[in-house]
Amino acid sequence: MDRYVFLETFGCQMNDDDSDRLLGFLKDINYIRTEKVERADFIIINTCSIRDKAEQKVYSALGRFKSLKNEKPGLVIGVAGCVAQQNGEALLKRAPYLDVVIGTHNIHRIKEILREVSVNKRRLAATEFSSGIDGHEYGPRPFNIGVKASVSIMRGCDNFCTYCIVPYTRGREASRTGADIMNEVSALAQRGVKEITLIGQNVNSYGRGTELGFAGLLRKVCRVEGISRVRFMTSHPKDFSGDLTRLFAEEGKLCPHAHLPAQSGSDDVLKRMKRGYTRAQYLEKIAMLRAVRPDIAITSDIIVGFPGETDRDFLDTMGLINTVRYDNIFSFMYSPRPDTAAAGFDGQVPLEVKSERLRALQAAQLKITNEKSRALVGKTVEVLVEGVGKAGPDEFFGRTSCARAVNFPAGAAAPGSLTDVFITDAYANSLRGALQGSTP
Ligand code: SAH
Ligand code: SF4
Ligand code: F3S
Repeated sequence: MDRYVFLETFGCQMNDDDSDRLLGFLKDINYIRTEKVERADFIIINTCSIRDKAEQKVYSALGRFKSLKNEKPGLVIGVAGCVAQQNGEALLKRAPYLDVVIGTHNIHRIKEILREVSVNKRRLAATEFSSGIDGHEYGPRPFNIGVKASVSIMRGCDNFCTYCIVPYTRGREASRTGADIMNEVSALAQRGVKEITLIGQNVNSYGRGTELGFAGLLRKVCRVEGISRVRFMTSHPKDFSGDLTRLFAEEGKLCPHAHLPAQSGSDDVLKRMKRGYTRAQYLEKIAMLRAVRPDIAITSDIIVGFPGETDRDFLDTMGLINTVRYDNIFSFMYSPRPDTAAAGFDGQVPLEVKSERLRALQAAQLKITNEKSRALVGKTVEVLVEGVGKAGPDEFFGRTSCARAVNFPAGAAAPGSLTDVFITDAYANSLRGALQGSTP
């Protein structure tokens, strides 16, 4: 008999991947995904804990589901992801209507966990960490097939940046075997996937100490027949190697885009964040990348208001933005997180100061992003066609190799093809163009 699962996902690429794995395992026991929460037999929230605001979202979402439990006695409610890992049993105490807490290393145990809940009527928190990655953890994948797919290559993080909760919620770094990854990539290619993104919290640590390493793996993935574009997310500037940089010149399928989170432009702040690079070393990596691939798009994450950040430090960050001229950035106000070193640092910055710095930073970046977009008007770019756009069946949507969104009249292009599009207009978050020709 079919049963229904309602799944809500917050957070990063790793949580999206875990949600896909959850759905894959649940499909084995006849669960079908539903968008209607009232119809669900199992409600699960896959949570993020990166900032306090993200964590609070979980409690408000849970509150919404509480009343459903009274109406439907057999309903199972679960929390997975980083908040589940961080708070474990305490979540069961805080929310009496919650049945299960599924930690980040326990996704693949979902079937036995559900059995415990439904058959043995137990509420439980499965938050044990395991040391390596067992091939079975990736289970019946891939679940959703389109033009693009992500392949997780590792989990965890050993960097312990002083502001960050991820090493506590995702555990120690562990890599999947090269054979498992390549099997998955080949299977995706055979099912028509054209673009692969290799994902991990810190992909350049992949296979540390092994012969393959991240650059070696990336090269192999670029050589898979049927795949036309390869990306990766996220890489740490301190580990961005010369080998990896050279790949941008050597592998035509590797998209000219690097997300290199700087976090701050001040050496003092970088040191207290424990990032492992100076501003000069960071700029050196960018110069190397631009030397081998002048058209490369560079994006970043920036935190404002880290403890002890002075006006001078913040000006250094503004200076970095204007020096690098990023294609785009994700920027955040520092949020103290449990267990992290920086939460106990002196000099916590008041909310008004953080908020004003964020506003100034975002305004400066918006100007740069707009200038870069406008510079594309009148140029021809190669777009991977993803499918019908929001404007209706006559409109197609795709992305440039630098991941900019492009809308254009559908014409003869087919989803999955690489098509030349002449850019006619630039908006805040997208480009508009006209079709030039396509290669199937
Ligand atoms: N592994 C990636 C980042 C993962 S978290 C890396 O090392 O770059 C995504 C982003 O969230 C981080 O780059 C950082 O900018 C931001 N972030 C992490 N912890 C934060 C905190 N406590 N407060 C505000 N932003 C934070
Ligand atoms: Fe967090 Fe730093 Fe690890 Fe990124 S590298 S996940 S910011 S600890
Ligand atoms: Fe959030 Fe966990 Fe990702 S804290 S950003 S979901 S690793």
